[in-house]
Formats: sequence, C-alpha cells, structure tokens
Amino acid sequence: MKKFDMIIKGGTIVTDTETFKGDVGIKDGKISRIEVGLKEDAKRIIDAQGKYVIPGGIDPHTHMDMPFGGTYASDDFHTGTVAAACGGTTTIVDFAIQSKGKSLKEASETWRKKADGNAVIDYGIHLALTDMNEDVLKEIPLRIKEGYSSFKLFMTYDGLRVTDDVLMNTLIVVNENGGLTGVHAENYYAIKYFTNKFKEEGKVEPKYHALSRPDLVEGEAAGRAIKLAKLVNTPLYIVHNSCEASTSEIKRAREEGYPIVGETCPQYLLLSYDNYEEPGFNGAKYVMSPPLRDKKNWSYMWKALADNTLQLVATDHCPFFMKQKEMGKEFFGKIPNGAPGIELRMALMYTYGVVEEQFDLQRFVQVTSTNAAKIFGMYPKKGTIAVGSDADLVIFDPNIEKEVSVEMLHENVDYTPFEGFKLKGYPETTILRGKVIVEKGQFVGEKGDGEFIKREGPTFI
Ligand code: URP
Ligand code: ZN
Ligand code: ZN
Repeated sequence: MKKFDMIIKGGTIVTDTETFKGDVGIKDGKISRIEVGLKEDAKRIIDAQGKYVIPGGIDPHTHMDMPFGGTYASDDFHTGTVAAACGGTTTIVDFAIQSKGKSLKEASETWRKKADGNAVIDYGIHLALTDMNEDVLKEIPLRIKEGYSSFKLFMTYDGLRVTDDVLMNTLIVVNENGGLTGVHAENYYAIKYFTNKFKEEGKVEPKYHALSRPDLVEGEAAGRAIKLAKLVNTPLYIVHNSCEASTSEIKRAREEGYPIVGETCPQYLLLSYDNYEEPGFNGAKYVMSPPLRDKKNWSYMWKALADNTLQLVATDHCPFFMKQKEMGKEFFGKIPNGAPGIELRMALMYTYGVVEEQFDLQRFVQVTSTNAAKIFGMYPKKGTIAVGSDADLVIFDPNIEKEVSVEMLHENVDYTPFEGFKLKGYPETTILRGKVIVEKGQFVGEKGDGEFIKREGPTFI
C-alpha cells in the first residue's frame, strides 16, 4: 500500500503568501504532505523541476449555455470547462439566471441540470435575481443554506435588470443570511438614451455599442450601488470593472473602510476601444458590457489589481460565434453581448502581470485563485496549497512560449479576442482533486469529473 496516490516532485510551490521548493504528496484527492525530499512512496510521481506548482485557477464569473440576447452562449458546461481546465482553471462559479415568474430554486435546478455530469472541473453557482417578490425574498436564506451563497443583480439589460429598491432589499436579506450580493453596474437609462440616439442617427456599427456606454455610465451605477450598500450597511461585490470611473468608486469606499470588493477581467487590462475600429464587422468580436475602454485606463486598472483595490481577475466568459454576432449586423443593439476568455486567463495574467512586472507571483496566485476562494466561500478547500485542501493544482511552465491563435484553444467559438498575443508561461498539467485532467496540454479527464461546490459565506480581503 503506497502512502500517497501522487507526488509532485521538485517544483517551485507558489501560494498567496510564499514561494518555496518542495514536493506535494496527494492522498484521496487532498493534499496530505508538503515537504522537501518527500519519500517516493506513491503510485505516481510527476516531475515538476523548473516549473511552478500553483493552486488551480478559480474563475468566479462565467456564463455557460446562458440564454442571452436572443441566443445562447456557445460553450456549455462540458466544452467550457474542458477549455478552462486546459487553461489551468479547476473551479468556476457560473450564473444561474432566474426566469421571470419563476423561483430561485427553479434557476438553481435548471443550472444544476446543465452542469451536473457535464462539467470536467468543480463549479459553484451564483443566483442572478431578475424577478423579485415576497416569495423570492423568503427563498434567499434557503438557497444560501444549500450553498448558493452569492447573488447577482443586473442594473441594466431589458428583461434582467432590477430597480434600486430590489437592490437594497437584496443587499439586506442576503447579508443577514451570510451571503454576498454582486452587481453588474451600468446605468440603464443613460444606455437607452444613447442607444436610441445613435440608432435614429443611423450610427449602427459595432463601435456604437461602446460609444453608447461611456465610462460614466458604469461609474455612476457603481457609485450608486456602493452608496446603497453603505446606507444599509452591507458588503457589495462589483463584477467586471472595466475602467477608472467604477474602480475609483471602489477605491474610495475601501479607503473609508467599507467592505466593497470587485473584479476586473483580462480584456479590460489588455484590449481597448481601438478594437472596435477594426475593419468590417470585426468590432462585433468585442461587443461586451461594459465595453472595452480607452487605453488610458490600463495603468489605473493594473495598479488597482496590484494594490488590492480590486481583488481578482475573472473572465466573464460568454462566447458567441461570429454567426451569432451577425444578429446585430444591421444594428449594434442586437449583437449578443459577451466574449470568450476562460482558457487564457492564467497565461495572460502570468505574462502580462508577472513577467511584465505589474505584480509578483504571490499576487498572481491571489488574483487568479486564492481571493476568489475567500470571497466566494470556498477557502481553504480551494485556492491554496495546504495540507487538507483539495488537490487542485496546476504545474505551470514559465518557459513555454506561445502566440495565441483560436486554433490552439478548446473554447467552442470561432475567434479569440486575444489573437496574436504573445505568451511567456503556460499551464502544462492540471490536477483536479488529485486526478490529472490535463497532461502536457492535452485534456485527459472525463465528462462529469467536476462536482458542485456547496459554498459558505464570504471572507473579505
Ligand atoms: O457582455 C457581457 N458581459 N455578457 C455577459 C453578461 C454580463 O453582463 O455579464
Ligand atoms: Zn455583467
Ligand atoms: Zn457576466
């Protein structure tokens, strides 16, 4: 009888607090020993010499198989999580959308049917509340007890958005029951005004999507949501911050001592409004909300990520084929909003974060894994390399160099917004609860390897 199921030998272990040489012993899906020179008493030894051993990535903002804009996001829980695994992510938290007139229970069950038996990595589920009433309010504590401990409200989008009274009530009830409320912050009425104006003027190309949602549209809504959270004395999470206008609202609130937390995404650190000016209908590739911003935001956003104004990097992975994007060929308002990104998050953050010296290895692990585990109630089961934690690990080779092309990716979509980006460092092996699911870049796991994570309440950082 071997002492360990697996030993990862000779790698450089990187956690959110330290970097050191050591071996990781795994037993029954958990990390059972971390030591230099661990006796090779294991069924399998993986050599990690010259490579980093990091906690599996956690992407807390994905949309698998989501009905949106008159179509469906093109990755489902199988294809999307294969792509995630190949990119070094071992956990996602996806959004179950409440249908009008239906309960949160129904939303959670619908999403579990999509995910259970299909996902190849572990998954939590946020509940996106779109239709509030007394019964829904009463449901919130029950859903939190079942492990759906975070909620999201859209402040814009017809059919999904909620009003400020709903936001306030949700903040209160979710907080009283130990959960966390998040918002998509954009001002609905300002977007409506600019969208109608551009349409009437015949300005219908993809770039007008961005021009109809200026930075202040996001800054106003983020500031308003934060003020409401302050008023009712609750924490708040703001998803996909794209620019200084919203992020500076978080910065100010945090400096005043309020528990306001938030994410950004690789696209807001590496792409810009200029992409909408690409020829033909190419700008549609980048139609997402909030839109890409002027480049001048980049340095502010990287700094905010480095100094913990923003705690983590998610992807908002919501892919659509170009054929689907063409629904908006005649009018930008009909282009389904969203873009792919789940597979490149870790490599982009390593290359453009660590190699380009925006932050160090500890911060890399914090923003790609540990902080999401803490904020979304999965720590220390997930997000760290510690005895007793799930053996969700990535062997990351800092010497692999690649140029991004859609052909090398596993996402179920026909483009990547990061085409042509140079990468230095890439995930080589992905291990989920002690099982190798990606080996030397090849997916070797099985449909259904992933499990639902019953999450606790947030820890603030
Ligand atoms: O454009 C985006 N972001 N699509 C996905 C839905 C959302 O707003 O997060
Ligand atoms: Zn959103
Ligand atoms: Zn989203």
